[in-house]
Amino acid sequence: FSLKNYNTFGIDVKADRFISVEKIEELKAILRKTYSSEVFLIGGGSNILLTGDVDKLVIHINLQGIEVISEDENEVLVKAMAGENWHQFVLWTLDHGFGGLQNLSLIPGNVGTAPIQNIGAYGVELKDNFVRCSGLHIQTLQEKNFELDDCNFGYRNSVFKNELKGQYILTSVTFKLSKKDHQLSTEYGAIKTELQKENISDPTIKDISNAVIKIRESKLPDPRKLGNSGSFFKNPVISLENFRKLQEGFPDIPSYTVSENEVKIPAGWLIEQSGLKGYKKGNVGVHEKQALVLVNYGNASGEEILELSKLVQDSVKEKFGIQLEAEVNII
Ligand code: EPU
Repeated sequence: FSLKNYNTFGIDVKADRFISVEKIEELKAILRKTYSSEVFLIGGGSNILLTGDVDKLVIHINLQGIEVISEDENEVLVKAMAGENWHQFVLWTLDHGFGGLQNLSLIPGNVGTAPIQNIGAYGVELKDNFVRCSGLHIQTLQEKNFELDDCNFGYRNSVFKNELKGQYILTSVTFKLSKKDHQLSTEYGAIKTELQKENISDPTIKDISNAVIKIRESKLPDPRKLGNSGSFFKNPVISLENFRKLQEGFPDIPSYTVSENEVKIPAGWLIEQSGLKGYKKGNVGVHEKQALVLVNYGNASGEEILELSKLVQDSVKEKFGIQLEAEVNII
């Protein structure tokens, strides 16, 4: 069974066996008769790089459903099942007039994998509207709720990437959204510019979503047309001391403050300065409009992408002494 249509890089590797599950009971029944070590889970496939055939039972988590579970005049709790497409879910919330997720429009992937890396964009992260998620333990089949404080959310990070890695299948996520007096996050430069261009001074949540969609479409390749996995690397966090030293050699180096003595550097800038923006070799390349995105120009293998990622890491390390860390899960 080919996994080409189940990973946004569009890598054509084979799975031993494949099943797409739409109901939790069905998922439990399969897990009851399969060793957890023989199972490989796949969601939206937007944050994985498959470097070889998968010699396991691939379970595609396709649980569907969106439901309002409680509300008052100001706020609403909305629960979405793990297999819902993230962007379609965001559009659903906006169509219902619910605010909170507008800055996270057009992020590829599904609802159930969004908490694992605490997806974020344009000044907002998933954790900002998160209430809880439900998980199914792969071995014991016990269901458990994880509240905000249980998840240890950080920049592209959570408990599900650390202590609980590989232990739970997230089955649903519940968000708290606003029905009025929406909190708008329009500080991000690109959003401001986009709203100004459209002459919008008092934006609605839908206006912000539209602005984000425009910005993303102008920089980030559509995985249906050009295989990719969004940002391949995390933006590195370095000490202020190290940053000051780098500034001597590279006065234009951009940064965002993280804490009193740490800053985050846009990896896209580091890669571009290393001369690799738009670099192309064989079937793979560094995207010409956003250097943080690696792309599959055709029939790339996972190995080719991995090799390119190492070239990028080596080049940045050599020029800046900074080690880039992959954001994408390499399998
Ligand atoms: N830059 C360059 N050259 C490039 C790309 C970026 O010089 O080729 C510099 C520019 O100075 C630009 C700055 O980097 O101002 C930031 O670029 P951008 O706004 O595109 O954001 P990013 O830091 O590259 C992060 C996230 C994205 C998210 C955007 C917007 C990470 C790893 N990536 O990218 O998330 O959409 O901010 O908030 O944090 C993803 O995780 O897959 C993803 C796309």
